[in-house]
Amino acid sequence: MTDLTLEEREGLPDALRVLVEALPRGTWEAHPNFSPLTRFWLDRHLMFRDVLGQLTQGSRDFLDGNVAPDRYGHETARMAQFFLQQLHSHHDIEDHHYFPVLEGLDDRLGRGFALLDADHKALDGHIDALAKGTNAMLKGLSGPDPRKGAGDLERQLGAFDLFLDRHLTDEEDLVVPVILTYAPEIH
Ligand SMILES: [Fe+2]
Ligand SMILES: [Fe+2]
Repeated sequence: MTDLTLEEREGLPDALRVLVEALPRGTWEAHPNFSPLTRFWLDRHLMFRDVLGQLTQGSRDFLDGNVAPDRYGHETARMAQFFLQQLHSHHDIEDHHYFPVLEGLDDRLGRGFALLDADHKALDGHIDALAKGTNAMLKGLSGPDPRKGAGDLERQLGAFDLFLDRHLTDEEDLVVPVILTYAPEIH
């Protein structure tokens, strides 16, 4: 059986793509059931991608010698704290507010919501690890080899980016077509 864990899968299995095949990405915004809340939710995903990109660029700039250690440390600490807190609360809202409304709407997709729930649990572990990696980098900045922590963090951010991209893409492919098809009441 195909491994559907966040770290191993390469996309949604065909059985969970039935709605998105009928409503592919390019058609979403023009659909009459595309709501401001759906726009807001997709924009949150864009924001997470953007901040993660800025974090990665920050480590690269430091490793390339283009930014001073104290500025790198300060900016990374600020952005990482924002990113990790916001991502955690985004998952919380999805788990307790959005998904309970959505998961009963289409019997064919029940397994998809279990998959998203498992993703959130997996991402919790990666969020903890990224917080630790960030702290290790910050501590290392005042030590004998500041580049070591920054290099480790850059690699960790690269892996996180793959997992986050996999989750956001698959989540959007599952959730948006459900919303467009059934127009549930979500506030
Ligand atoms: Fe999610
Ligand atoms: Fe999400």
